[in-house]
Amino acid sequence: MEEKQNVYLVGPMAAGKSTIGKILAKRINLPFYDTDAEIIQCTGVDIALIFELEGEDGFRQRESEKLKQLSELKGAVIATGGGIVLDENNRKVLKSSGRVIYLKCSVGQQLSRTRYDTKRPLLQIENPKAKLEELMEARAPIYEELADIVVSTDKSNSKFVINSILEELDAGS
Ligand code: S3P
Repeated sequence: MEEKQNVYLVGPMAAGKSTIGKILAKRINLPFYDTDAEIIQCTGVDIALIFELEGEDGFRQRESEKLKQLSELKGAVIATGGGIVLDENNRKVLKSSGRVIYLKCSVGQQLSRTRYDTKRPLLQIENPKAKLEELMEARAPIYEELADIVVSTDKSNSKFVINSILEELDAGS
């Protein structure tokens, strides 16, 4: 794998970006970061409160700033929030500073993994299924276009997912 490049994990909510990212980082001996976790650490409040106080726009601004900072690391595994790819400049930052891995996941899986979730403001609504479907329709083509590597996390365990990513990273280096 080429040195001094970051590895970014993109994909929808609950695709496993943080879980897979942490294990992957250990395997390739790089530090791990998560844009949401970094925002929470910096602000001292959770994402839901940021949405409440500053709206989604305020959150997106913080997300872009955090991405820009992390992109300067040159050699980290970075999990991103599901909506980070919406901003064109974010997409440029991702593409120009690392390899982008799209963790693909069905709406059915997302629903079952987020059933008891209270931390994702976009899903605290009456019909999260419709919301997830709407987001997937809008975002899946963007994830696909941006990705250097696409791996499904639907049916595979994390070991299989990590091994697939490692193989592809090696093949592309
Ligand atoms: C969002 C995904 C969340 C978080 C925020 C918005 C989205 O991150 O950034 O709630 O727009 O899809 P995860 O993808 O880690 O759940």
